[in-house]
Amino acid sequence: MTAPRLPPAYHLVSLERVVSTNDEARALAEAGAEDGTLVWAREQSGGRGRRGRAWASPPGNLYCSLVLRPEVSMAEAAELSFVACLGVGEAVGSLVPPMVPLRYKWPNDVLLDDRKISGILLEAKSGAEGRPDYVILGVGINVASHPGDTTTAATDLAELGAPGLDVGEVLQAFARHFMTWAARWVEDGFAPVRHAWLARVKGLGEPITVANEASRLEGRFADLDARGALVLELPGGDRRLIAAGDVLFAR
Ligand code: BTN
Repeated sequence: MTAPRLPPAYHLVSLERVVSTNDEARALAEAGAEDGTLVWAREQSGGRGRRGRAWASPPGNLYCSLVLRPEVSMAEAAELSFVACLGVGEAVGSLVPPMVPLRYKWPNDVLLDDRKISGILLEAKSGAEGRPDYVILGVGINVASHPGDTTTAATDLAELGAPGLDVGEVLQAFARHFMTWAARWVEDGFAPVRHAWLARVKGLGEPITVANEASRLEGRFADLDARGALVLELPGGDRRLIAAGDVLFAR
């Protein structure tokens, strides 16, 4: 495995096997790790996904978590999951043949050929004055394999025409593309991120179901609001802002 060549803003912590890179990154952040600390592990024994799900983490795929200390509000920090989507999307898009379609699925799934290639888990600790003390951005990318038992169909880069990729190379691609979009976000805010994300979103204008622990709502995916909430138009025409949940598409 070749060592990734990363822009100097990153401080790489490279590990063999951990429970979860998000947990490692959080421990480092609690101990004062600086913005840009990037924890990379070859394997996880307790990889975590959104909404308490497990993230299967055998060797051969990418597992990394980045410590960020953005000078924004907690609400604005949540926009980083869309920034990460663009970083992941452009990275994986650069590694597979150009005819493989790339789409984003709200809130932060990256789909290649209509199947999930990556997972993003954003966790933040709030600090003074409603600002985050730190944000942990966890990213998993299916490079050599994918689990077969997921509710959302999954795939991996090898299956899509990029066999034998070095995981370090995938980390390098993600780190570079994420940095470009993070700089744009710091400079220009969420608007250009939202615009780029919407240009590739799956299901805009279509009937969807949004499910979370509390409810299951059916409607039309009308828009993404200026903060990243899904705008759901209900059958009667009323609009609801959805901040968290899973989107299911009609067949
Ligand atoms: C999802 O549910 O789609 C999010 C999955 C996030 C998985 C990544 S792998 C690296 C980091 N460490 C974890 O335990 N989870 C994230």
